[in-house]
Amino acid sequence: MSTTEKPGSQVISPRGSDTAAGGAPRATRLQAVRGMNDVLPDEAPLWQRVEDAARTVFAQYGYRNLRVPVVEATALFVRGIGDATDIVEKEMYTFADRLNGDSLTLRPEATAGIVRAAIEHSLTYERPQRVWTMGPMFRHERPQKGRYRQFHQLDAEALGFEGPDVDAEQIMMLARLWKALGLADVSLKINSIGDADDRLRHRALLIEHFERHRDVLDADAERRLHANPLRLLDSKHPPMQEAIRLAPRLIDRIGAPARAHFEGLTAALDAAGIAYEVDARLVRGLDYYNRTVFEWVTGALGAQGAIAGGGRYDGLAALLGGKPMPACGYACGIERLVLLLREQGGTAHDAPLAYVAHAGDAAARMALAVAESLRDRGHAVVVHAGGGSLKSQMKRADASGAAVALIIGDDEVAAGTVTLKPLRVAAPQSAVAVADVAARAASYAA
Ligand code: HAM
Repeated sequence: MSTTEKPGSQVISPRGSDTAAGGAPRATRLQAVRGMNDVLPDEAPLWQRVEDAARTVFAQYGYRNLRVPVVEATALFVRGIGDATDIVEKEMYTFADRLNGDSLTLRPEATAGIVRAAIEHSLTYERPQRVWTMGPMFRHERPQKGRYRQFHQLDAEALGFEGPDVDAEQIMMLARLWKALGLADVSLKINSIGDADDRLRHRALLIEHFERHRDVLDADAERRLHANPLRLLDSKHPPMQEAIRLAPRLIDRIGAPARAHFEGLTAALDAAGIAYEVDARLVRGLDYYNRTVFEWVTGALGAQGAIAGGGRYDGLAALLGGKPMPACGYACGIERLVLLLREQGGTAHDAPLAYVAHAGDAAARMALAVAESLRDRGHAVVVHAGGGSLKSQMKRADASGAAVALIIGDDEVAAGTVTLKPLRVAAPQSAVAVADVAARAASYAA
């Protein structure tokens, strides 16, 4: 994301203008919306590295791509994520469709949309499905490092699977992704929040407990005490911490089926050699979960340390009007992975193999032909455009990051050769026959 974040969004009339020094009207400069960042070309290679690694891992585990709209009916998220969650209460970009008054929302996450699509297209009618998606999500949060209003997720969902084998599979996929990206300093927290009746029983105990500690609750906790008491365990309000520590733990009270599920998960993780911490306070910020919940966290990103989160949501499909469908999934924040990679000194480049400089009309035509022949062999080639001296073209060649410059002037046209100049290693330039250019240039590839 762009590192230049804006101090505040400006309200600008659609045809806004002001007056330049000379009195002529000048259009007001428009800016990106606060918390919504540009990814500039110099930053994009790290993003692509993350996305490519994720695509490889998804394919390695048999997950197939599914794409859902960025805009959905508001009711989908209210029902799916839960009306007493932060996301639904205060973070959704919701608007009325001007043409028909429908209430629409920019998706704050992908799971609800994917389950809607699965129901709408009877995706799991014949067999369960493993799917993934990636793209922008929108939450009106206070922007800070690692937290944005438009952010991007990698998302995987196993639809129609009871687990706990797929729960473990998804955690293993993420471990593989961290390994592929070379990410260090990441750790795994898991918990079980049981089944609906476990949570109902626990809910009564929690309300009773926090009612005894009413004096330490902040306004948010007060409001949620009866609507969503589990969320109180997530509070960072310092005076509440002792009461949270003493609160009855849901994982100690889950029923036999949920316990067996959790034991199946931990056994699979142990067998795979994946270290985890059971965190009884891990409850997640979306209401659709049951049984398994997990988060991968890093200490390197301060308060925004969650790089991936997920869990099981066996009740969501029925909540959205479909047949019951057990399912499990997760999402990772791409911005946070990119930040973490950058903090660990990670780099990625997307430089072409060759930059072609040329002088004269015949040389320009030959430059295009040579470039096409290299591209036929799969190489990336930039042909200089826009004129200028050979010296200025060589500066561009250097800035492009290309491994070699190919220089074509009248002499080269006459001889049917190209002057090949290595740009990243100290080696002399040489005349190369056109037929040999690709092989010679490739020998200098990084
Ligand atoms: P989530 O925990 O809300 O879960 O988000 C998943 C990840 O998205 C977080 O761990 C974080 O890396 C990233 N993220 C969330 N909000 C922001 C933000 N404002 N700025 C930057 N990154 C952010 C879900 O969204 C669930 N749909 C995951 C899931 C899939 N559960 C089952 N299937």
